[in-house]
Amino acid sequence: MVSLIKIDIAIDLLPNKCVKIGLNNKSIITTMANTSISYQPTFTIGGDLTVNRLGYGAMRITGKGIWGPPSDKDEAIRVLKRAVELGVNFIDTADSYGPYVSEELIAEALHPYASGLVIATKGGLERTGPDQWPVNGSPDHLKTALEGSLKRLKLDQIDLYQLHRIDPKVPAEKTFEFLQKAQQDGKIKHIGLSEVSVDDIKKAQEFFEVVSVQNMYSVDNRKWEPVLQYTKEQNIAFIPWFPLNAANVASQEKLKEVADKHGATVYQTALSWLLHHSDNILLIPGTSSVKHLEENHKAVSVELTADDMQHLDKIAG
Ligand SMILES: NC(=O)c1ccc[n+]([C@@H]2O[C@H](COP(=O)([O-])OP(=O)(O)OC[C@H]3O[C@@H](n4cnc5c(N)ncnc54)[C@H](OP(=O)(O)O)[C@@H]3O)[C@@H](O)[C@H]2O)c1
Repeated sequence: MVSLIKIDIAIDLLPNKCVKIGLNNKSIITTMANTSISYQPTFTIGGDLTVNRLGYGAMRITGKGIWGPPSDKDEAIRVLKRAVELGVNFIDTADSYGPYVSEELIAEALHPYASGLVIATKGGLERTGPDQWPVNGSPDHLKTALEGSLKRLKLDQIDLYQLHRIDPKVPAEKTFEFLQKAQQDGKIKHIGLSEVSVDDIKKAQEFFEVVSVQNMYSVDNRKWEPVLQYTKEQNIAFIPWFPLNAANVASQEKLKEVADKHGATVYQTALSWLLHHSDNILLIPGTSSVKHLEENHKAVSVELTADDMQHLDKIAG
């Protein structure tokens, strides 16, 4: 017996240059290798803070070794003001940057804050000198750190408070209970973690909602890919620190090839790869210069194709 199967196929080119294939009324979206791929321009942190995915990291507006005041304070203030003018509404800082310098400059340049500007700070590290960052996750230290950040940033509540590191010397539950209590007391709106494994995140999730994870990650350093995947599944923001691998991405040949093809710089292309790689990535490239800030900001207009992404994916091996 011969049976006949009827298949209806319809093909449409969508405005975002994906191909929509209709098969028996079911649609499959597929991407063309040489057309640009689209991504979400914003991310909503913790269900209520919607920010542009290209933010700014304020660690570099300090002195050498992230210690003391910046060599050019006026330029640091200009960088912060210009970031907001360009549409940045997510700024990352920490009490330990300077220490205190970065938070103080943010308040000096931007307070009273524009509506919708999210300032995310961190606690959990001490500073004993340039480039020295001893970890301290004890509730006593965090209490002082949080009170100090609220005061310096001139805020009643921190929108996103991130634990800079889990302290192996302190039982994790003690640290997590402190953060849980600070949130219940209204001093912190949302809680994030930094430099953590999937197991660390799961443990913290027993105490509070984890809305962000900040781990070292870039096109050429993808050690934390499993954490990125977990955060994506959980709708947690993934905030790569060293998104430019502290300016070392410049030596990547494949990045240069794709950058040249788009008339872009390697820095813009490295940031664009992150924007295209996963919609839960929030970018906080750091810079102490308005020129670099403006250059980096143009990453949002670099339109990478599936071929470009495949080529850049090879950088990580
Ligand atoms: N959670 C953590 O443990 C942790 C650790 C480190 C950093 N962070 C956060 O992550 C943010 C980003 O990390 P990062 O600032 O260390 O590294 P990054 O963003 O990867 O790179 C910043 C470095 O690249 C240079 N740079 C930036 N744009 C450039 C451009 N267009 N051309 C040439 N050079 C350029 C900057 O120098 P110029 O100043 O000369 O532009 C700076 O030295 C920090 O600002 C901080 O907020 C978090």
